[in-house]
Amino acid sequence: MMADKIKKLIEEVEEFNATAKEQVESFRLKYLSKKGILAGLFAEMKSMEPELRKDFGKWVNEFKLKAEQKLDSFSEILEASVSTGAKQNIDLTLPAEPYSIGARHPISITRRRIIEIFSHIGFTVADGPEIEDDWHNFSALNFPENHPARDMQDTFFVEGDGGRRTGDEGKPTSDSVPRPSSPAPNEGMALRTHTSSVQVRVMETTKPPIRILAPGRVYRNEAISARAHCFFHQVEGLYVDENVSFADLKQTLLYFAKEMFSADTKIRLRPSYFPFTEPSGEMDISCNICGGKGCNICKYTGWVEILGCGMVDPNVLENCKIDSKKYTGYAFGMGIERIALLKYQINDLRLFSENDIRFLKQFTSTL
Ligand code: PHE
Repeated sequence: MMADKIKKLIEEVEEFNATAKEQVESFRLKYLSKKGILAGLFAEMKSMEPELRKDFGKWVNEFKLKAEQKLDSFSEILEASVSTGAKQNIDLTLPAEPYSIGARHPISITRRRIIEIFSHIGFTVADGPEIEDDWHNFSALNFPENHPARDMQDTFFVEGDGGRRTGDEGKPTSDSVPRPSSPAPNEGMALRTHTSSVQVRVMETTKPPIRILAPGRVYRNEAISARAHCFFHQVEGLYVDENVSFADLKQTLLYFAKEMFSADTKIRLRPSYFPFTEPSGEMDISCNICGGKGCNICKYTGWVEILGCGMVDPNVLENCKIDSKKYTGYAFGMGIERIALLKYQINDLRLFSENDIRFLKQFTSTL
């Protein structure tokens, strides 16, 4: 009786005809899938008396074989429908969908170019945090607390604990004394006003010779205009070794100016003041727009200022546990925006952060 049932099923399978892939799929589902007839028969077999099971098993296997052969015989239908589908839906002669290639941001292009130029003379890149403590941003750099030199850089201070919360503020402690809502330990945190803080971090942890660049974003509380923003980008450089001199600094900066702008670029250094360098200077380059003849970019002087520099103050070296009797060093720092403005003759610094695609797509670079 059982065998009859299966024989009928075998007949059914053998007679089954399919012309489309949907029919093939419903065949598979009905007979061979996990919840299909074959699976049902195997389940039934498990609960049978051993002597019945043997005979029944033979027929189930026969059924399995036939159903699988049938499914195989449909493989051509499946393949054919794929290839005819391809023929119908894909026109290989159509032009490809155009897709726009992105470009680097002009600040990134300029940063990468500056790094590349200095890498040729042995500088490597160092990194540090944008939220910085008072020591690394000011004190170690010879800015005494409450000294007016701190006013040179209008600073965004970060309240109390640097914005970090533990979630326990104000909750009673075990002895029922409320926690202060602004714990004191990180008092004096600020958004770094320059990447000189990274130089301090490197000097604290590395023995000379040190030759690094510190690129990164910095923040100052400036009114936003065509010439200033509350954040901008810098690349600062530091070289500390035995017998480093001002002549080394000057030659390095001349090399940089020629590589960055053009081979006929001239430089001039004017005395200046920074708490962390002594002597300090500001460097101008001959105006690359009018070639030194005078234009509105150089305010008819023929020169444009591009960076601050100087010899690292011995106090700074000592603050970082470097022997200032043995070692000397030079440092310099420039705003990437300023270099990019001059390089690309852009007249408004705000364009860099407005994300206007019409502005950004004018820059292409493989750098
Ligand atoms: N840190 C200075 C600034 O941000 C630039 C500078 C760096 C000047 C190194 C001298 C030496 O204005």
